[in-house]
Amino acid sequence: FILKKKTFVVLFLRLLLGVKFFSLRVFFMKKAIVLAAGKGTRMKSKIPKVLHKVNGMAMINQVLSILEKVEISEVIAVLGHESERVEQELDFPVKVVLQKEQLGTGHAVLQAKAHMVAGEDVLVICGDTPLFRAETLLEAQQLHQDTKAVVTVLTSIVDDPSGYGRIIRNPDNQSVEAIVEEKDATEEQKKIREINTGTYLFNGTFLKDNIDRIGDDNAQGEFYLTDLIKMAKKQTLETAGYILLDPAESLGINDRAQLSEAGTILRDRKIRQLMADGVSFIDPQTVYIDQQVEIAPDVTIYPNVMIEGNTQIGEDTIIGPDTRIIDSSIGSRNTIERTKIIEATVGNDCSIGPYAYLRPGAELKDQVKVGDFVEIKKSVIGNGSKVPHLAYVGDAIVGEKVNIGCGVITANYDGKNKHTTVMEDGSFVGSNVNLVAPVTIAEGAYVGAGSTITSDVPAGFLAIARGRQKNIDLKGKKL
Ligand code: UD1
Ligand code: CA
Repeated sequence: FILKKKTFVVLFLRLLLGVKFFSLRVFFMKKAIVLAAGKGTRMKSKIPKVLHKVNGMAMINQVLSILEKVEISEVIAVLGHESERVEQELDFPVKVVLQKEQLGTGHAVLQAKAHMVAGEDVLVICGDTPLFRAETLLEAQQLHQDTKAVVTVLTSIVDDPSGYGRIIRNPDNQSVEAIVEEKDATEEQKKIREINTGTYLFNGTFLKDNIDRIGDDNAQGEFYLTDLIKMAKKQTLETAGYILLDPAESLGINDRAQLSEAGTILRDRKIRQLMADGVSFIDPQTVYIDQQVEIAPDVTIYPNVMIEGNTQIGEDTIIGPDTRIIDSSIGSRNTIERTKIIEATVGNDCSIGPYAYLRPGAELKDQVKVGDFVEIKKSVIGNGSKVPHLAYVGDAIVGEKVNIGCGVITANYDGKNKHTTVMEDGSFVGSNVNLVAPVTIAEGAYVGAGSTITSDVPAGFLAIARGRQKNIDLKGKKL
């Protein structure tokens, strides 16, 4: 009766607060083991499989981000193939255990035995299944709790089960009797379309007590983690199988085709989430937005836009068409068209492009105009300043309300070193000027069009540095 009452209370609270909020905060297990020691031969790659990116994020980081969403506090990653390289790329705190030889999934989990605590449930998930949603893991855990299973396997019903372990159900109570690998399966068993996704919830005591009792007497001579199901049944313990509502979530990445398939699914989810959060897309099919990107409400995104890496975009900004933004921070109310922006910062109310190129270290303050065919590198452009067309600004410090004319370039490189150009507040640099750095155009100074400036221009002065015009009368002369 007490347990029934508890279940009722849980259901009531879930109704009241929504599954997501309530379960995420309070109920999910605290410990997870991520299996990622394999090489991923079918990727045909120099890079370990779990470091390949899906929608801009290394596969293993994508898996770890799901675990973060369900607030798992201790993640143990089993690494093997190129473990140091994999460890370096991890964006989340994990404990690493090594599996030197890859003798099977059971052997992989065994390497984490020292971290298993009796009475503490454990989630086991593969580093190459990046599409699970947090909600799915929570629902599976609910079943795990309700059935008091010592192992709950997440399963999926698919059209083509080949290659996967098949789920053998008990015909009476539908609990899971065994998982049979394709290579060990009879012809009858091969017809089963319910497959093992490779994700499981374990009772910690059961896992700790049984993980080193798995044998390798099977077609592949491997230690199969899946044998724990049979072992539980032998001990007359409960097992359960949670069938995913959306089989796509269980997609495991073994080759490049599956990698791109998974990327497409994540990209679609990301854009749907952004739309739900108030971002407009004119043609979402043509837009690529990496997992980590943050976009505020009322941003409008035109076709053919790519927004990548660690990028943030503030509200009411309009992006595109044909724009690529990488690892940059963009403020609010900007208009950006046909532009590439990489490792740059943009304030608010700026107008950029078409055909601008903001390179690493470019920092635009507010109300800046950067127009067509302008390249800016490692330079600060102050409030209200304008670089409207055809200019190169590199290693420069540009003050407020500066006007940089058409065709201005900073000659910042002498073949050995880079030098700084300073254009102070209110200065005006005419068209087609070369500013040979290091040089300073002081506050309110003017530079006449066509000048090559090699020494500082004092505040309030006009500098002209070009040949004086001569008009030669050609009448009666032969050229
Ligand atoms: C496994 C399951 C199978 C399931 C499938 C789902 C077993 C015996 N079989 O098969 O039932 O349908 O996943 O995708 O568990 N790994 C290690 N160390 C090892 C072996 C594997 O860390 O020694 C890791 C791999 O890096 C990978 C994951 O475990 O991330 C799965 O290994 P994989 O070899 O792909 O297992 P499958 O044969 O696909
Ligand atoms: Ca696999």
